[in-house]
Amino acid sequence: MKATAFAPVNVALIKYWGKGDEKLRLPANSSLSVNLTKMGTVTTVEWVKGLKQDGADERMIRHLDRIRGLAQINLRAKVVTENNFPAGAGLSSSASGLAALTLAATAAIGLKLSKKDLSRLARLGSGSACRSIPNGWVEWQKGSDDKNSYAQTIFPVKHWDLRILAVILSQQEKKVSSTDGQALAKTSPFFKERIKGIDKKIINIKQAIKEKNFKKTGEIIEEDCLNMHAVMLTSQPSLMYWLPETVGVIQAIREWREQGLESYFTINTGQNVFVFCEPKNEDKLVDELSHLRGVIEVRREKVGLGARLLA
Ligand code: DP6
Repeated sequence: MKATAFAPVNVALIKYWGKGDEKLRLPANSSLSVNLTKMGTVTTVEWVKGLKQDGADERMIRHLDRIRGLAQINLRAKVVTENNFPAGAGLSSSASGLAALTLAATAAIGLKLSKKDLSRLARLGSGSACRSIPNGWVEWQKGSDDKNSYAQTIFPVKHWDLRILAVILSQQEKKVSSTDGQALAKTSPFFKERIKGIDKKIINIKQAIKEKNFKKTGEIIEEDCLNMHAVMLTSQPSLMYWLPETVGVIQAIREWREQGLESYFTINTGQNVFVFCEPKNEDKLVDELSHLRGVIEVRREKVGLGARLLA
């Protein structure tokens, strides 16, 4: 009746921003991501007979309700969860958190779900969580209903050794959650434009990843990040997740690139920045990034596996 799971943070190269169906958490567009090796959430779930209330926050309780429905049980659970990184600052804590909860809670009650069904279930908790279930390079096909909207591995971990640097600028939590921000996406005049171009962008980035073409992959990552932030900035009300230091990192990356030190950035709903680079430039970039104004920490990451049981 007890299980512990780890789920990694996943970083979207093509972002999920805006929903087609809010209740089923069907996204307006397909998205693509990589899992990280170290940053993530460890969650232990124990279903306890006689317990009156779940020991968990509201969002988790709603997810436990779904699992109770699936397993046809009426037990409550004790949940202990820990992120090994600052939460709520654009490092995707809801993705790793809800993916770890999905795996631990279903395993603890003896439900043996396929990766596909785990991904579908995690999606209902937080859209991006469905991408923390499969291994390596992942695509979430938006689908058209609850059954066909889930994430799958498109390339294994070993396909391409790209490095991801998580640049942590501040531990301050964002004011508008991803869920609330997404609800505003459609108020931006650029939302439809972004969606129109996305299938083509996904085809192009998959080809670039297949060929291990770093420049092409990086350019698409940045383009889509800036597209999404343009939608955020032009939503009503306008959303700005960046701090001045965030812009500082973007400008430094562009400058270094001109000088031949190549890397590309992406940013979620928060101030922190993820930087993609090749192994040969990793040490130099960590050193340079660490010296930028406002940088608290730079974490070194690689492409990693999806969610797994620890106990
Ligand atoms: C900017 O998955 O957190 O990180 O489905 O409402 O829980 P909900 O949203 P969430 O949104 C993630 C937004 C993003 C982009 C991405 O990871 O694709």
